[in-house]
Formats: sequence, structure tokens, C-alpha cells
Amino acid sequence: MKSLFFTSLVTSTLLFASQSNTSDPLKIKEEGIGYIKMLGSALKKELQTQMKADKTALKAVKFCTDKASLITQEVNKKLPKYAKVRRTALKLRNHTQNYADAIDTKVMQEYVDAIKVNSFNPHQIKVVKEGNTTRVYKPLLTLPVCLKCHGTDIKGELKEHINKAYPEDKAVDFKVGSLRGAIVAEIQKESSL
Ligand code: HEC
Repeated sequence: MKSLFFTSLVTSTLLFASQSNTSDPLKIKEEGIGYIKMLGSALKKELQTQMKADKTALKAVKFCTDKASLITQEVNKKLPKYAKVRRTALKLRNHTQNYADAIDTKVMQEYVDAIKVNSFNPHQIKVVKEGNTTRVYKPLLTLPVCLKCHGTDIKGELKEHINKAYPEDKAVDFKVGSLRGAIVAEIQKESSL
């Protein structure tokens, strides 16, 4: 008798959930991670190809200047209307496209603080909810390959290109393991919590 009651309770709850317009917050988080991976892998694939083709990174940096925003737009076109995905950082190279707002800044600062006290987990996804919008953040750490264009020792034509294309560039002097930025998915959907 007890189990029958339990079963019907579960069934009606499931029915309620599938009929209502709300989504499970965990599902929204998973959905966001999926979009983050789409953008992350699209950019990584292109960067790897470009870096292999030219060890000086000059072609690759020009490619990033011309195509990073375009690739981001292309990925966003594939997402449902209620979702978007983008990159941002505390120390920016492209201030107009990758601008960090107050929430982005706060979340990234938390990552930086955790790195400082050795409590950082690179897989730590952070979720921030404001009204119907859920933001999902994945931290981007500086890897050795990033130093070519974001490190301390940028010289010659590469430096010239960066200075010319980004006169306000702040995205240099990074060390391996420091926070370079984040990928953020924003999902505009009612969540059930
Ligand atoms: C070949 C040079 C090059 C390499 C290598 C490179 N980047 Fe960048 N990065 C750029 C350029 C150029 C931009 C600005 C792109 C734009 O205009 O949107 C940029 C922008 C970014 C941004 C967006 C925020 C901002 O400052 O505008 C992030 C985040 C980022 N890079 C992370 C990384 C990480 C992480 C790596 C290593 C895995 C890396 N980059 C390697 C050239 C490079």
C-alpha cells in the first residue's frame, strides 16, 4: 500500500514537472556546460591548427583578431534563442566584444582568490541565477601555449600586431596556472528552484 502511494506520488510529480514550463536547475547547468564546450572546442581547434601552421604565432594572432568574434557568433547561431555563450576576462584584450560585467567580475575574482589560497579546482563550474537567467561559468587557466600571446615575452611583429589591433590590451604578463578568463553560458529559462 505504502509503495503504491509512493509510486503514484512520483508519477504525478513527474507529470507535473513535464507539463510545467520550468526546468530542473541541474539540467540548465548541464545545458550551459554543453554550450561552453561548443565554443571552447571550436576556438581550441582553430587555434591549434593555426599554431601548428606557424610557430611564430603571427598568423595565429591575426587569425584570432579576425575570427575569434566570428567563431563565437557562428556557435551562438546554433544555440536555441534563449541561450548564448561568450568569453570574458578580468584583464581584457578585446574590451568591446569580451567586456566583463559586475557578475562576471565577481565570479572570476572568486576563482582568482581560490587560486591564491590553493583551494581552486579547475573543473569548478559556477552557477549564478538572476531572475529567469542562469549563468554558467567555466574558468580558463593559462596554459604554456597561451603565453605566446598572453605572456611576458611578446616581441617583434607579434607585439606590433597586438599593440596596433588592441591599443588598450591588458591581456599580457600571465603565468602558467593563473586565471586567463572564463567562458560563460547564459540561459534564459524559468528554473524550478
Ligand atoms: C596566437 C595568439 C594567441 C594565443 C596562443 C592565445 N590567445 Fe587568447 N586571445 C588572442 C587574441 C588576439 C584575443 C582577442 C580576440 C578578439 O579580438 O576577440 C584573445 C582573447 C582571449 C580571450 C577573451 C578575453 C579577452 O581578453 O578579450 C580569452 C579568454 C583568451 N584569449 C584565452 C586564451 C587562452 C586560455 C589561451 C591558451 C589556451 C589563449 N588565449 C591563447 C590571442 C591568442
